[in-house]
Amino acid sequence: MTKTIIEPFRIKSVEPIRWTTRQERENLLRAAHYNLFLLPAADVLIDLLTDSGTGAMSTHQWAAIMEGDESYAGSKSFDRFRQSVQDIFGYRHVIPTHQGRAAERILFSVMCKKGYVVPNNTHFDTTRANVEFVGAEAVDLMIPEGKQPSLLHPFKGNMDVAALEQLILRVGRERIPLVMLTVTNNSGGGQPVSMENIRQVSAVCRANRIPLYFDACRFAENAYFIKTREKEFEANSPKQIAQEMFRYGDGCTMSAKKDGMANIGGFLCTNDEILAQQETNLLILTEGYPTYGGLAGRDLEAIAVGLQEALEEDYLRYRIASTAYLGDHIAAEGVPIVQPPGGHAIYIDARAFLPHIPADRFPGVALAAELYLEGGIRSVEIGTLMFGAAAKMDLVRLAIPRRVYTQSHVDYLVEVIVEVWKHRRRIQGLELIYEAPFLRHFTAQLQPLSSTGAGREREQKIDEPALPR
Ligand code: F0G
Repeated sequence: MTKTIIEPFRIKSVEPIRWTTRQERENLLRAAHYNLFLLPAADVLIDLLTDSGTGAMSTHQWAAIMEGDESYAGSKSFDRFRQSVQDIFGYRHVIPTHQGRAAERILFSVMCKKGYVVPNNTHFDTTRANVEFVGAEAVDLMIPEGKQPSLLHPFKGNMDVAALEQLILRVGRERIPLVMLTVTNNSGGGQPVSMENIRQVSAVCRANRIPLYFDACRFAENAYFIKTREKEFEANSPKQIAQEMFRYGDGCTMSAKKDGMANIGGFLCTNDEILAQQETNLLILTEGYPTYGGLAGRDLEAIAVGLQEALEEDYLRYRIASTAYLGDHIAAEGVPIVQPPGGHAIYIDARAFLPHIPADRFPGVALAAELYLEGGIRSVEIGTLMFGAAAKMDLVRLAIPRRVYTQSHVDYLVEVIVEVWKHRRRIQGLELIYEAPFLRHFTAQLQPLSSTGAGREREQKIDEPALPR
């Protein structure tokens, strides 16, 4: 047996990427106010901002796209989409949406109101925002091991079952309309949730008659971790494992931009007839007719094929190995990362990387800016800028688009990150000069602390006033 795990595909169409000079990057970074969301993508060499909607589609997906039935109602593409979703997820009602957050908005608008509490292992930012937008409280109940970046644990995404039981006792089951499990746990480091934990959480939910929903974005990667880390499942296919996971739930939200292997799309599933009806009514109001939900027929086709491809074992073996390769190689040089490597991303612990920068000076944003300056890499902060003072960690996420980059791209990433690690003491903190009232990280503007004097005059040039938090 050979031991090299190769990309299980060959490349039929290529997209050039562009080199910039360091001087260009300095100017671009300043113009983007040190917020990499504000950079033009064309000026990024390797884009690890997100694994969402950035994957490469297969020949089978492109072929299916040509079969797209664009009928307003009753399209064949919807039948194929629903069939593929139900084959894996098993839920009775499948509601297509334009992406994950639309499914979240509909779910929480129907199930939540002021005074309600939604527990999750860790809410993703849009999930939390959608819970809070309807006046409910979003509570994160990750196991304590998940909060220690360097600690090794096979399922750091697990929910703290005892904490869930205490929460139910404290607030009362009637104020908890649903419990959510995010697989894998994106904001907690891309870490998986074990089948054992899913079973325990499900048992608590059933005993209290609270529905359990999955935030299923990266369900295939989670299934593969269960296969390789939970003895009971070593002989099962990722698809069988995914089917088993979803049996413990009552529904899910999904962004097909992740393990749907598509560039856009999502869905909401439920077994509950009445909820499905209310959700469909909302869908018609804002997304579209129930057989397309804001998507083109061709998008539904791409997702129908993509969901199945995401579960192919060769693909998952390569996917998880390639992410781990990046993590292991930078960790070997001393770079502090969330251990063990996650499924879709490597998370650098920016507080440990830059101990001289306090959290309120945005070490994650400063590190992300430096990685761009050094090698044209775009990453994203998941920390104080994203979550405010509530952030328990300051992480820089290097999210790997699916089937896009090759081994030599990853070797290049390792070189750039190690170079930045070597001169880390030169990196300075940042200060905020503009923030929006919610989801501020998308549009925030920052400046290096050292330029505070010069920054004063700049501050007045910004169109919108800075809002107090
Ligand atoms: N839930 C999780 C766990 C996610 O990671 C995301 C998106 C969503 C929900 C929302 O889905 O973007 O289709 O509306 N995460 C992307 C990311 C944006 O970069 O991690 P969406």
